[in-house]
Amino acid sequence: MEQNDRETERNQEAEDRRRPTALITGATSGIGAAFARRLAAEGYNIILHGRREEKLRALMHELDTPDAGDLDLVLGDLSDRRTIDALAEAGRNREVSLLINNAGYGAGRDFLEDSEANQMGMLAVHCEAVALLCRALIPQMLRAGSGQVINVSSIAGEQSLPKSVMYTATKSFLTRFTESLALELRPLGIVVQALIPGFTHTDFHDKLPEWERERRSKGIIRWQTADHVAAFSLRQLRKKNPRILAVPGFFNKLIFAVPHILPRRLYYAIASKVTD
Ligand SMILES: NC(=O)c1ccc[n+]([C@@H]2O[C@H](COP(=O)([O-])OP(=O)(O)OC[C@H]3O[C@@H](n4cnc5c(N)ncnc54)[C@H](OP(=O)(O)O)[C@@H]3O)[C@@H](O)[C@H]2O)c1
Repeated sequence: MEQNDRETERNQEAEDRRRPTALITGATSGIGAAFARRLAAEGYNIILHGRREEKLRALMHELDTPDAGDLDLVLGDLSDRRTIDALAEAGRNREVSLLINNAGYGAGRDFLEDSEANQMGMLAVHCEAVALLCRALIPQMLRAGSGQVINVSSIAGEQSLPKSVMYTATKSFLTRFTESLALELRPLGIVVQALIPGFTHTDFHDKLPEWERERRSKGIIRWQTADHVAAFSLRQLRKKNPRILAVPGFFNKLIFAVPHILPRRLYYAIASKVTD
């Protein structure tokens, strides 16, 4: 009996090693959790990361079906180097083949009114953590001859907006970083995508201190579900010639393009009005 148990355990371990492994930062809720649900249903092993432990454990419980792969959890703030080191180690041990740098947050406050930690944290989470995890985990993908990276940026990365000074700037960095990295790695068999969502129903806006606007589609603002965004991203990633910039939805593509086509003065007038 005991021998049978050991045999089953060994078979399970061998099967888990054969499954692809994804690492998702910010998997607690929203877009990260939507990626986790889709990838778990496809049989991926998943390393989930976030800070709200109770919510993450509830998600792991939900994903832990008989057909699911292995689920690991790394907790911690991404502005803390120890969290990045723990993720890098977990990712290397598991030979991650899909890295999703998704964690992020907004401030919704004037640059000078918000705390230094909150504002500078965006540089750490949206820029440094992403670059460090790419450096830690892409080398093994190169050795394997294939791998995929999704960096979750935002249409805000194309905009200049009051109350989003560090958010727009860091997401702008993230989009450019990802685009250049994709060009560098494409000939080497690694697919890199900048996912550029617009307004998405997640916990993101609940966390903003002064965000009381209605969350419904109006004019060119179209709200999407997190699952729609995650599904779009994975579909794009798996195309024969995947786009580097993945912008879900026609209206988001329009908002993405607006600052590049409007005369600057007109754009500034609109940007100041919409954030009033
Ligand atoms: N929702 C939108 O309208 C929208 C639009 C464009 C782009 N995005 C981007 O989409 C990504 C996912 O956000 P979401 O909308 O799904 O929001 P969400 O539901 O609030 O999820 C954000 C995730 O990021 C994690 N996170 C935030 N700050 C962190 C930090 N300092 N250290 C570690 N983890 C941190 C959160 O962890 P805990 O919750 O456990 O603390 C959570 O798991 C973000 O990069 C965001 O900028 C969102």
